[in-house]
Amino acid sequence: QSQRESMFIVNEWAAKYFEDLLHNHADGVAVGMQYFRSRGFRDDIIRKFQLGFDISDRHALARVALQKGYKEEYLLKTGICYRTDRGELIDRYAGRVVFPWIGVSGKVVGFTARVLDSRTKGVNQKYVNSPDSDIFHKDHELYGIWQAKRAIAKEDRVFMVEGQADVIAMHQCGIENVVANSGTALSLHQIHTLHRFTSNITLIYDGDAAGIHAALRGTDMLLSEGMNLKVLLLPDGQDPDEFSRSHSAADFRKYIEDHSADFIQFKTDLMLRGETDPKKRADAISSIVQSVSMVPNQILRDTYIHDCSQRIGIGEATLINQMNNFIRSRK
Ligand code: CTP
Ligand code: MN
Ligand code: MN
Ligand code: MN
Ligand code: MN
Repeated sequence: QSQRESMFIVNEWAAKYFEDLLHNHADGVAVGMQYFRSRGFRDDIIRKFQLGFDISDRHALARVALQKGYKEEYLLKTGICYRTDRGELIDRYAGRVVFPWIGVSGKVVGFTARVLDSRTKGVNQKYVNSPDSDIFHKDHELYGIWQAKRAIAKEDRVFMVEGQADVIAMHQCGIENVVANSGTALSLHQIHTLHRFTSNITLIYDGDAAGIHAALRGTDMLLSEGMNLKVLLLPDGQDPDEFSRSHSAADFRKYIEDHSADFIQFKTDLMLRGETDPKKRADAISSIVQSVSMVPNQILRDTYIHDCSQRIGIGEATLINQMNNFIRSRK
């Protein structure tokens, strides 16, 4: 048995342990389940995502695991436990609700655990994730990919959201072709995983400053990989989870349909709307043209240039010139 296999086995066991606590332990029911219910998570979705809970006794998991014959080494390697300076073996997720990450091939690759307290400022980090290891690289994985992959292929589109709760909220609306990148910049690894199922991606990031920033970051890589990229920002700084609370599933779907914007158009509007400073406009246009230059398909590039030229009132020849400079400089 390889190290990696042993780590997967411990993860698999821990996911079941957390799930069992949520449904069967008195605290799991009173605290964990109560938390999920207060967020409006449905029972079928709680099961589907194998959500769990870890009791607040920080030694409980290690005690049970060791007694069942799981090795300390793998509790540490997977990060389910960590060791204090005084040599104690401590549950990393004690007192939190737990979201297991099921990788694209169906294995439990890691965990995210959330504090129950709605006051998320202070010493407690709101979310704690598995540390990177031989089987988990947070910026390679996509939360929800296992539950979404069939729907992604079927719909030939993936919705990318920021958080675990957003994935779950969308499933509850019947939108199952959705994954989260957990608040980090998109990586090439993640794009390659998604590209196995579709070339069409829509970013639905939080409508706050961080989300808008994220919607611009890492996007040139998506374009250069030949992904067709759309962006949707939700109103009033909301995230998909919040939005789904005040809208029916049908309205949510309609909102996505009506407000998804092609990325280049989105970026053009975002960067140029209301910007009157000539130098800043020029820099923005340059950045937009650079994005266009990433698109592998020449006909699509030409279409974008034509469209940009119309929108921003700069001659096509100028834009094409600059685009070709970008392309040449990368060779
Ligand atoms: N995140 C994280 N660690 C943090 C904060 C955020 O890993 N300390 C990741 C989580 O995956 C989170 C995502 O970034 O879901 C987006 O952050 P945020 O919008 O703050 O969280 P929400 O998903 O909206 O969390 P919630 O609704 O549970 O408050
Ligand atoms: Mn890797
Ligand atoms: Mn946010
Ligand atoms: Mn959010
Ligand atoms: Mn949220």
